[in-house]
Formats: sequence, structure tokens, C-alpha cells
Amino acid sequence: MQIDKNVENDGVIFMSIKGDDKSDSTETGASKAAVSDSASASAGGSGDVTILAIESSCDETAAAVVRNGREVLSNIISSQIALHTIYGGVVPEIASRKHVEKINGCIRAALSEAGVTLEDIDVVAVTYGPGLVGALLVGVSAAKAISFAQNKPLIGVHHIEGHISANFIENKDLEPPFVCLVVSGGHSHLVVVKDYGEYEIIGQTRDDAAGEAFDKVARAIGLGYPGGPKIDAAAKEGNPDAFTFPQAKISDAEYDFSFSGLKSAVLNIINQAKMQGEELNQADVAASFQKAVVEVLVGHAIKACREYGYDKLAIAGGVASNTALRTLMEKECAANGIKFYRPSPVLCTDNAAMIGAAAYYEYKKGVRFDLDMNAVPNLPLGDRERRFHAGKA
Ligand code: KG4
Ligand code: ZN
Repeated sequence: MQIDKNVENDGVIFMSIKGDDKSDSTETGASKAAVSDSASASAGGSGDVTILAIESSCDETAAAVVRNGREVLSNIISSQIALHTIYGGVVPEIASRKHVEKINGCIRAALSEAGVTLEDIDVVAVTYGPGLVGALLVGVSAAKAISFAQNKPLIGVHHIEGHISANFIENKDLEPPFVCLVVSGGHSHLVVVKDYGEYEIIGQTRDDAAGEAFDKVARAIGLGYPGGPKIDAAAKEGNPDAFTFPQAKISDAEYDFSFSGLKSAVLNIINQAKMQGEELNQADVAASFQKAVVEVLVGHAIKACREYGYDKLAIAGGVASNTALRTLMEKECAANGIKFYRPSPVLCTDNAAMIGAAAYYEYKKGVRFDLDMNAVPNLPLGDRERRFHAGKA
């Protein structure tokens, strides 16, 4: 995976992500890298569905052109992380304003890198929830405007369905049914992907999402924002057995997660050290905390595969880029005869290629949205067609 990065005057990082044959999929043992190089992309043959996908649910403005759900012609991400770092987290108003500034440039770049124009686009897809309402509205408004002006079908995509669908991009052989562990900044879900766009949630967090726990603990031990990648990096230098942190089990819902007790245990250790005037080893705390989270995530996911009888397991969301999680999951999948799928790290965090992948299967099912589509900040996973805006063609 080749990433061209450019830091703009306002601190926003502009990225263009291109596939290459040496991508992470070789390491995963997946059949073939499916992210095409823009040079090899030619504008649509008959029956091809070319989707312009837009994502703006949090602090990344992103646009991508995706053909037939699995071939990424372009993937542009404008990341605001550096702007929010000084506040220690995402400031919604700043995020919305930056999305407004960046969105047209991202869409233009996505079209140009894919070598297509708006006329070549068959469908406009956009994340319409869940996420920050002001941020979502920017993408939704842009997608509606293009759909109206070009008279192209409009499809709203659930952000988490997008994360799950990121697995289809580099793994052409992956088809439902399979189990997917979705771990992002706002969600920790264990789902059975029964079919394209059909999800059964078998476990979810009772309190903090996994990514949220990473972010809060990173702040507490002085690593700052964004916490996940910083803990991941610090943990490489630390001893994962330096502290034994609790791994919550919920007796009446064995696949649910709870990370708030773990977070409190870390805070207690920090406070104790402060009171005793001792210096805590940041890397040891990071490694021990990460181990506790990762063991719970992997344990639940493997158990679900075994008990529900699935031999394919995928991971998705920002936390799925965590090195320790990928390593332990790979080991446990191999030990249990389960085929393990994971997107390259840059496709785990927010991007629009995953939205284009999810939208393709919605399009094939006949889902179409009207121009009254609105942002839905707390959009639930599954059964959304009946409840939110979308009709059948
Ligand atoms: O999926 P994502 O990009 O945005 C949401 O939909 O929330 O996930 C962001 C979350 C953040 O909490 C971030 O700290 C976490 O994913 N994250 C990681 C890593 N990279 C990102 N957590 C652990 N290890 C990482 N390497
Ligand atoms: Zn996300």
C-alpha cells in the first residue's frame, strides 16, 4: 500500500492511498491485493458499477472512487488529527468547518486520480451515521448536491457497515457469512455478517468503546491524542506482564465487553504512584493495558466463531490496526482453524473506500435514498432501511 502524504498550511494531512502488489494482503495470506493502481484503472466496462463515496463522520474528510465494490480506483483522506491534538480530542465545531473547507478538494482529487468525471459515476454514496452531526451533514449535503445535479442514485451508508466492508477490498475471496469484530473510537461490536448488509449483533460494549479506552488511558499516562497509535507504539518498548489489569466478564451476556473497570484500574495505579512519589513506567502501563484489552477482544471473537460454527473471522475499525491485536488474533485463528481477515491499517481507520464497498452491495439489493436523506448521529446497525429514509427501487 503506497501512501502519498502532504501536510497543508493549516496542518491538515492530505493523503492519497494507492494499492500495490506488495500490500498487507500478502502478509495476511489473502488471495490478491484488490486495490488497483489508478494507472491501471480504466473507466467502466458494461455492467460495471462505479461509485463515488464520501465520508465525513468524524475528523477525516474522505472521498474515493470504487468499482464493483472491491476495486479501489482512488482513495483520498484529508486528516484533521493534528488540528485536534492541541485540544486532546476531536472538537466537533472545528471538525465541521474543516470538512466544509476540504470536501470539494477531496472529491475533485478522488475523481481525478481515478481518471473519471462525474458523468462516469453510477452512484453517489455517503456515510449518513453514526457520527458527529455537523460533520456528517457536510458529506451528506455534498453527496445530495452531486446526486441531484448529475441525476445519479444516492445511497446512505452506515459508518460501521463501511468499516466491516473494508475487509472486502483486499480479500476478493471473502464472502458472508463470517464473524466480524468491530472496534473503533465509538463502537465495540461482535457481529455475525450473515449476508451483505445483514448483521446480527452478538456482543457489544456496556460502557466505553475499545478505542475510547485506548484514548482515555493514553491521556491519563501522558501519551496524548490520538491514544490508540501512541499506546501501540509505546507498548512495543514495555513489559505486558508488568501489571495485571482486570478483564471484565459479563455473566449474562458472554460476548459483551466492558472497559471502564480496566480504565479505572489504570487510573488507580497512576494515582497510587503519584501518592507514593514513584515514577511509573509509561511503556509498561501501555503494554499491560493493551494486553488486557486485546486478550478480551480476541477471546470473545474466537469463542464466537467456535460456538456459532464459523471458520472465517474479520476485524474492522481503527483499533483493528493495533499491532498486538493483529498478532494475537492471527495466532489464535491459526490455532483454531479459522481463516483470519484484516484490512491494511490505513483501511482500518476512517476512509471512503470502505463506504464505496458497502454501498455497492446496498445498490445491488436495490436500496436507494431520496434527497430528504438526513444525518443520523446515533444510527443503529442493521434494519435501518425500514427505519431511516431508504426505500427500495
Ligand atoms: O474507526 P476509527 O478511525 O474512527 C471511528 O469510527 O471511531 O477509530 C478511531 C479509534 C481511536 O479511538 C484510535 O485511538 C483507535 O481507533 N486506534 C487505535 C490504533 N489506531 C487507531 N487503537 C489501538 N491501536 C492502534 N494502532
Ligand atoms: Zn470509523
